[in-house]
Amino acid sequence: MEFKNLLLRKADGLGWMTVNRPDKLNALNRETIEELLEAFKAWREDEEVLAVIMTGAGEKAFVAGADISELAGLDESSGREYARRGQELTMVIENYPKPVIAAINGYALGGGTELAMACHLRVGAETARLGQPEVKLGLIPGFGGTQRLARLVGKGRALEVILSGRMISASEALSWGLLNRVVPADRLLAEAEALAREIIKNGPLALGLAIEAMNRGLDRPLEEALEIEAEIFGQVCATEDAREGTAAFLEKRQPRFRGQ
Ligand code: COA
Repeated sequence: MEFKNLLLRKADGLGWMTVNRPDKLNALNRETIEELLEAFKAWREDEEVLAVIMTGAGEKAFVAGADISELAGLDESSGREYARRGQELTMVIENYPKPVIAAINGYALGGGTELAMACHLRVGAETARLGQPEVKLGLIPGFGGTQRLARLVGKGRALEVILSGRMISASEALSWGLLNRVVPADRLLAEAEALAREIIKNGPLALGLAIEAMNRGLDRPLEEALEIEAEIFGQVCATEDAREGTAAFLEKRQPRFRGQ
């Protein structure tokens, strides 16, 4: 698969997805959004990819937002459609049946923070800067920022970030739980990979179903959410992987999961 704005690489169970417009700090233009949708679709059923690591090309940016040159011409209806398409991408990532890890190597602003928040885990370089600066452009976040940021860090902090438009440091983001961990910039990809490798040792179906249970339950009343968990727990119990994982423990050996 060849993309204009993405670099894709598969290696030893991991899919590396790099947004590759370093001259524009990896800003998301429409074409890049379409390519990301396409790439996630292609890897969904790809058995060579057990987890995805997303990052940005170059040293400066993960993704410095939606492409402002495209935002400049939007009106009410094209703006709504633009937001919907970006939101669709974030939903695809959030509900992806394989873990998606953002390796944030610099600026993650606007759409960059929104993309990172849709990922299941976020590892930041010490140089990472996050933020939702849309109000500085007279806009608001449109790829889920007003919703996911509040869910991740609480309404008070989210409103501070969105209303001030200020950038948050990696250490502040870590203390809020917006980043899972922060590492020196030159260790970022290695640390993201180590985390991904720890995860992909586990049952692949279980990983996808754990993500599904959490996503489906989180915004519902606890009783309904627990019902969803019980239903999905039943599904996972019927898999070969569950039989293999439990048998391997009892037989004191390593499991060999096949994703079945
Ligand atoms: N959309 C389009 N182009 C962008 C961009 C974006 N979101 N972010 C950066 N770029 C472009 C710049 O226009 C510049 O292009 P040019 O060289 O053709 O002029 C190039 O990327 C480098 O950016 P520059 O601003 O020169 O780098 P910097 O180190 O001085 O500043 C930032 C870095 C991130 C602080 C600054 O680029 C910025 O504020 N970007 C916009 C962030 C934003 O508002 N994002 C939310 C959009 S909704």
